[in-house]
This record gives sequence, C-alpha cells and structure tokens, in this order.
Amino acid sequence: MSQQFAPRPLIIAPSILASDFSKLGEEVRAVDAAGADWIHLDVMDGHFVPNISYGPDVIKAIRPHSKKIFDAHLMISPADPYLEAFAKAGCDHITVHAEAGPHLHRSLQAIRALGKKAGVSLNPGTPASAIEYVIDMIDLVLVMSVNPGFGSQAFIPSALGKIQDLRAMTAGRPIDIEVDGGVGADNSGQLAAAGANAFVAGSAVFKGGTKESYKANISAIRNAAALSRGEAV
Ligand code: DX5
Ligand code: ZN
Repeated sequence: MSQQFAPRPLIIAPSILASDFSKLGEEVRAVDAAGADWIHLDVMDGHFVPNISYGPDVIKAIRPHSKKIFDAHLMISPADPYLEAFAKAGCDHITVHAEAGPHLHRSLQAIRALGKKAGVSLNPGTPASAIEYVIDMIDLVLVMSVNPGFGSQAFIPSALGKIQDLRAMTAGRPIDIEVDGGVGADNSGQLAAAGANAFVAGSAVFKGGTKESYKANISAIRNAAALSRGEAV
C-alpha cells in the first residue's frame, strides 16, 4: 500500500510582471485583496534572461503594500552576490535557477542562512534530477513551463512530465512544487493532477485590469486546481 501524504495547500502566486508598473503598490494591494496567496516577483538581469525587470529597491518599495509572502524568482546570474539584498528588501522566498551558476548547493545554503525559504527553478530543458543532491536544501521547486524572460508565452507541455517526476522525488517532504509560465484556469487542473500545488500566473490573473477581474481570475485558477484534486470549491 503506497503511503499517502496529505497534498500540500493550493497556492496562487500572481506575477506582478504582468501588472501596471506605473502603479505597482496599488496593483500589489489589489491582487492581495483579490485572493493572492503569494506575490511572485520576477527579477530579470538582461544577462541570464533577455529582459530586465526590477531589483531589490523596487521590492523594498512595494513590501509595505502587502503582508502576503513575497516569492522572489531570481532570473539573474550570478545570484549569490545579491541574495542578502533581496532578503533585506523583504523577500520571504528566494528562488535561484539551477542553471545560474556552478554552486547551487552553496546558494541554497546562503538563502537559508539568511532565514529565508530556499527555492530552485528549473528551465524547460533542465531535468528534475538536477535537484537530486540538493533535495534537503530546498523548500520549493519552481518548474518553468516557458523559457524565462517574458510573460504571456505559450505553455510548454513537457513541464507536466517533469512535475510528475518531482512529485515522486519530493514525496513525504515539505517541498512545494510551483509551476510558472503560461498557467491559467485552462491548465491548472491538469497541473494539479500532475502534482503541482503552487501556480504562478501573470497574464491569466492581471487580464481585465480591475480588482473584480483579478478576483475572478484567481478564483478560476484555484477552483480548477481544487476540482482536479477532488476538493470542494
Ligand atoms: C517568466 C516569469 C513568469 C511569467 C509568468 O520568466 O518567470 O513568472 O511572468 O507570466 P505568464 O503567467 O503570463 O506566463
Ligand atoms: Zn517567475
């Protein structure tokens, strides 16, 4: 009889990359009130990914606008020199890319030494086995279902198989499986069934541009995932 573990809680993490940057504080308040569990912060350096977004000072500026978890996704290389700045800016989770440098284990050690939850992100071409020797060092795995750098891209289906692999690898451990890129109400059920419990969504949450649409969009993503897990909505 395979041991059944309680599924980890469903988490919706809107990515503010898709929000109106001219009013970031207001947007963070709005999506917080609309039911976001985490606020996903996409940090891009124009080197690891072909886009530049924002850094610790912007995160520090929006920190007072929400008490929700700040889930930082560092698409930067190198990441180690900046970990302390993101921790001081108010990030609760700090996720680095397995591909961002040669010393993943040391980066994760440093994040935990800062008192933050440590995450590792895997690009579409990186196998689940990349976490094998750091599995005791992580609190979450961020599965990229697009090539990082931009919002509003098409979902890459191979992420489903990777999520299934990761569910087996992390069974019984307090590790969230977070999926990021092209996620919406149309696929969150399938992703939850595969084993993801945390859903990053930018365009699928911020479309419509109103507090009401944010609330409806978040509920739709959450409900589809809950239904696929046989949970009441
Ligand atoms: C892409 C980022 C994602 C992206 C998600 O590099 O890591 O978080 O903002 O945007 P959507 O949900 O629109 O694909
Ligand atoms: Zn992201």
